[in-house]
Amino acid sequence: MGKGFYISKAVAVTCVVVAIAAVATIIALSVVYAQEKSKNEAISPPTTSPDTTTITPTTPSTPKEPWQRYRLPDSLAPVSYNVTLWPRLKTNADGLYIFSGHSTVVFTCVKETDLILIHSNRLNLTAFEGYHAKLKGLDGATAPSLKNTWLEVPTQYLVIQLSGPLQAGSKYELFTEFVGELADDLGGFYRSEYFEDGVKKVVATTQMQPTDARKAFPCFDEPAMKAVFHMTLIHPQETVALSNAMNYGKFLSQCSNTRFEPTEIMSTYLLAFVVCDFAYIGTKPGAEVLIRIWARRKAIEEGQGNYALEKTGPILSFFENYYNSSYPLTKSDQIALPDFSAGAMENWGLITYRETALLYNPDVSSNGDKEWVATVISHELAHMWFGNLVTMKWWNDLWLNEGFATYVSYLGANYAEPTWKMKDLIVLNEIVGVMAVDALASSHPLSSKEEDIQMPEHISELFDSITYSKVQYYSHYYNLILSSVEYNQWCIICLQTYLEEFKYKNTVYTDLWKHLQMAVDKAGIKLPSSVEVIMNRWILQMGFPVVTIDTKTGKITQKHFLLDPDSVVDRPSEFNYEWFVPITWIKTGVERQQYWLVDKEATNNDMMLNANDWLVANVDMRGFYRVNYDAGNWERLLDIPVINRAQIIDDAFNLARAEMVNTTLALRTTKFLNKEVEYMPWQTARNNLDYYFLMFDRSEVYGPMQAYIKRQVSPLFNYFKDLTLNWTKIPESHTDQYNQVNAISLACSTGVKGCRDLTTGWFREWMKNSTNNKISPNLKSTVYCSAIAAGGVEEWDFAWSMYKNATIASEAEKLMHALSCTKQPWLLNRYLQYCLDPEKIRKQDATITIIYIASNPIGQPLAWDFIRANWNHIFNDYGGGSFSFGGIINGVTKRFSTEFDYKQLLQFKEDNAGQLGSATTALEQALERTKANMNWVAMNKKQVLEWFTSETSSPV
Ligand SMILES: *[C@@H]1O[C@H](CO)[C@@H](O)[C@H](O)[C@H]1NC(C)=O
Ligand SMILES: *[C@@H]1O[C@H](CO)[C@@H](O)[C@H](O)[C@H]1NC(C)=O
Ligand SMILES: *[C@@H]1O[C@H](CO)[C@@H](O)[C@H](O)[C@H]1NC(C)=O
Ligand SMILES: [Zn+2]
Repeated sequence: MGKGFYISKAVAVTCVVVAIAAVATIIALSVVYAQEKSKNEAISPPTTSPDTTTITPTTPSTPKEPWQRYRLPDSLAPVSYNVTLWPRLKTNADGLYIFSGHSTVVFTCVKETDLILIHSNRLNLTAFEGYHAKLKGLDGATAPSLKNTWLEVPTQYLVIQLSGPLQAGSKYELFTEFVGELADDLGGFYRSEYFEDGVKKVVATTQMQPTDARKAFPCFDEPAMKAVFHMTLIHPQETVALSNAMNYGKFLSQCSNTRFEPTEIMSTYLLAFVVCDFAYIGTKPGAEVLIRIWARRKAIEEGQGNYALEKTGPILSFFENYYNSSYPLTKSDQIALPDFSAGAMENWGLITYRETALLYNPDVSSNGDKEWVATVISHELAHMWFGNLVTMKWWNDLWLNEGFATYVSYLGANYAEPTWKMKDLIVLNEIVGVMAVDALASSHPLSSKEEDIQMPEHISELFDSITYSKVQYYSHYYNLILSSVEYNQWCIICLQTYLEEFKYKNTVYTDLWKHLQMAVDKAGIKLPSSVEVIMNRWILQMGFPVVTIDTKTGKITQKHFLLDPDSVVDRPSEFNYEWFVPITWIKTGVERQQYWLVDKEATNNDMMLNANDWLVANVDMRGFYRVNYDAGNWERLLDIPVINRAQIIDDAFNLARAEMVNTTLALRTTKFLNKEVEYMPWQTARNNLDYYFLMFDRSEVYGPMQAYIKRQVSPLFNYFKDLTLNWTKIPESHTDQYNQVNAISLACSTGVKGCRDLTTGWFREWMKNSTNNKISPNLKSTVYCSAIAAGGVEEWDFAWSMYKNATIASEAEKLMHALSCTKQPWLLNRYLQYCLDPEKIRKQDATITIIYIASNPIGQPLAWDFIRANWNHIFNDYGGGSFSFGGIINGVTKRFSTEFDYKQLLQFKEDNAGQLGSATTALEQALERTKANMNWVAMNKKQVLEWFTSETSSPV
């Protein structure tokens, strides 16, 4: 799935606390889970005629019968489907939206069997003479008669018992007819709604991945069960029907029956069909590949699809080149849907998106919104080959699919927007986040065994927050490539041969290693062991190492890096938590060097230093490990302008959290920031200081800390003031645009002179004429937040009405966050109340709004009180919706760091025993985290206070 569960980077990039991005990920994810849950509750199992159907109760733990197992047997293989679907865009007499359809699947019998298992979920199947299907032999084969058919609900099968065997080598045809609900549950064939010119419009659309194709029609719903699909959609004349393949006949068919050309051989999870009243913009006729961007008519008229259209062609050609394989289809449709669970989905030939991930409006959206669009498009297009043309055999290899697409999405985006320095941003956007999660004792290995991933719930779990970030472990794979040798042709060649060998087929991850090994051998590259042996250490054990280099002796050691020094790892590893680490390094006067650390410790005399020299390892942060040094080298690194300040900061702060270096050493890495104007070091510092704010923003440390940051950021603020000619121009570079946001938000929140007047002035101007918002789109999020923080009810109410009026999703998102920035307790409390009123805050946004409020130090205790006072109501009335109890507990308790906090949490647990639901784990984690915070504060508060105080009392 595409950039699966991120809400949007727009907020993440611009809002005060970057950590919110991580929370947003989890929230979006839990939204999906909750939807999954409500799906299961919303529709009762289809009614079936009693004489032929028995619903067998099953215990998944003791599968005796084939239909009690979650994996299909290997006796049948689908060849092609002929599917007709008719979604009704108006309710029926019962007030339900439904679809009906029929499907014929041709399959080959591979092994003799008298049983047909085919996935079918929540479909009401028509009975023919008492059976739920019709079977026919093909090419002279005779089909046995049906003996018994029923729906096996737990494993989601239509089970067909036959009176005699199907013959190996013969082909058969199975016909089914069915009715399903076109629900608004965001899975399978579902319904999305929006208003245009005051008229409600209904869209029928799909999200099949991972296991919901079976909700649209009976099918062999596993990724390796590839087949050719012949689709037909029946729809109202005034609407458009789209699917993976091109439609036959003239494009906007006037008849209400749209047939599509047969698809390529493909997996069921990549199917898509849409019936809508959308408009599109596309490439001119005659282009090699027809590219179309579809969206609400208004959005297309306003030009919101133009950017996507402009970039899709170049990105597609980039990948054709990169993979040395032409785009496998004749058209590429991309469509923005008003309701969509993930970020986007790579359906082959018809990619579906959230509106924020495909549409871009230069007058309203920020550069972060734009980057999001470019990278999501690039991610999905990368899948057209890696994932769609060549597909993982089973879901346990999802990590390879997603991780790879994420990595190359940056290359594609870099090609489309060469000035953005996307290859640097990959470190900040992806690697740092993954490292934070993977440094916990509760992490888990990247690769799962096929047999451990069986039930749809297991498959969905692969999309969970840890794994979903962890799939971005392309870095483990590229660790080897990027940092061992200059990134060059040979790894690309391996991909090309891999795609060539496996196109239209399925693979396991070792197939890729095999091709990598072939490329390595061919290029004559020396590695310390085989690709497979090296890679196994990165994917079969969790975590990553910290490499310590003693530049006095040249001794190098490695150790499993754990953020919390007190955490206990109880998951054993066959490799003892040791890795093959490709170390790139430079030292005074010596250019980039390469060294493989293959043991727990080693000595490299080249890494010994003379008295005044320095050494930096893991140049450019491309390797997936942290680096520690002897004290002398750390001291020298603080004094000299080394190339990668961001890395020094990030390593130092993380090592300090792990108690491997002093906290004051970490703080000292921020001293040079008053001379720094680059984005990467600033953003890294901000990310790391966030924890200090959480721990100290209600204590006496806060004053000196604010004073210090104010002093450090003032030059940056003035730099941007000059660069933008008194804030009248937009900085040219993409990263400067991001850093301008840092300058303003840090300056305003620490009280740098002139900052607040600036932001409130802009906001006031907008308030004077609400249809004339002249605030630069990049700065909106931070300006709204700053002005609302400085203002009162007037500002808040204005922003609220703008939020309710927003027609662009990214704009609404920015306002929703900004409303939580106020310092007025009563406004925050009122906003909290709004969260339980779906008329005011959509249910899907309630969780994230409460978390935003809790991120505000004034809002945090209010949110905690609110949660406790309303837990009963929340738990009972919001449980089935998209509310995330875990996310809320996590968000509200992030600052907890005292004995008193701890006792309150314990009390809460006691008071609500039995009604914690999905918050149970989060509560345990919160208790654990509170303890860890208490320890950290006890150990560090004094020295942090002293350091900030002495820094701010001494002259610059
Ligand atoms: C910015 O404004 C100040 C005074 O408000 C003025 O002195 C200065 O020349 C202006 N700078 C630019 C580049 O316009
Ligand atoms: C508000 O701004 C719009 C758009 O710039 C403009 O057309 C309109 O005249 C303004 N209204 C007032 C009252 O100034
Ligand atoms: C909200 O939008 C409606 C319709 O576009 C418009 O009439 C109304 O004035 C807007 N409200 C505000 C406060 O701008
Ligand atoms: Zn993806």
